Amino acid sequence: MINAYQGIICGDSDEILARMLNEGESVDLVLTDPPYNLNKDFGNNSDKLPLSEFLSVSKRRIELCRDLLKFDGSIIWFGIHHYIGFIQSIMYEVGLNYRRMNIWYYENGFSRLTTAPLTQYEPFLWFSKSPKKWTYNVNDVRIPYKSKERLKNPVYYRKTNGEIAQWQPNPLGAMRGDVWAFPTLAGKLYKNEKTPHPTQKPEALITEIIKAFCPKNADGFYEGVILDPFHGSGTLGVCCEKLNEQGHKIKWIGIELEQRWCDVAAQRINNIK
Ligand SMILES: C[S@@+](CC[C@H](N)C(=O)[O-])C[C@H]1O[C@@H](n2cnc3c(N)ncnc32)[C@H](O)[C@@H]1O
Repeated sequence: MINAYQGIICGDSDEILARMLNEGESVDLVLTDPPYNLNKDFGNNSDKLPLSEFLSVSKRRIELCRDLLKFDGSIIWFGIHHYIGFIQSIMYEVGLNYRRMNIWYYENGFSRLTTAPLTQYEPFLWFSKSPKKWTYNVNDVRIPYKSKERLKNPVYYRKTNGEIAQWQPNPLGAMRGDVWAFPTLAGKLYKNEKTPHPTQKPEALITEIIKAFCPKNADGFYEGVILDPFHGSGTLGVCCEKLNEQGHKIKWIGIELEQRWCDVAAQRINNIK
């Protein structure tokens, strides 16, 4: 691993990913929220492609990310319900291994459209490079148990050695499911976090995903290289830096085409330091 690439890189990830690969770079985790092709204005036309071009560009990007992954690395790729099926097919086509279709669920969605249900989720796919080895830090993302009912009526199960045991709650909480509930950054409540970027992700959600999928060192600290080729306002970098302030050792690379968003990201990161 060379690691010549770190921090914010202002440029075109289609070129930079290929260059990183030629130069022998590798990463543990690709965690990204690419253009969804929903006609958003990022200051460029990246979100306004004909469908066939969007799919061919997405395939090339996924192939580059796959090749940059270490053998036990993973890709977390956000999408939108319109097109996530295509992206999932591409992931299979390029030989990645399906782990989960996750749902980012938010209750504070808003719509003026009355001819269809209000959208309350965005899917994000998890595929691993290896069919057998990947990182998932189950205990780092446990959630509070919803009720104590199960304790009133004990549940018994058979262990692998045949013994019967009574189920006991895990002191760290219940296992997180594949629906990740975090509010969007809409409204006054999030005005301190929100930047002018049109599709900024909440730090709480991205931090939780990092905790789940970033490799850890023997001392229990996150230590790995995380790549976001579509860094936008810099949420990935901000979340990694805030974790690093707590002693973690995450190296991160955030590539963004638009100087404006690179500047926003740099400002957010400077504010932490
Ligand atoms: C969905 S947004 C990411 C938002 C980000 N997750 C955040 O929290 O701010 C996608 C970003 O990808 C950028 N982008 C589009 N094409 C790109 C390319 N070829 N290389 C690098 N960035 C690109 C867009 O300018 C946009 O800021």
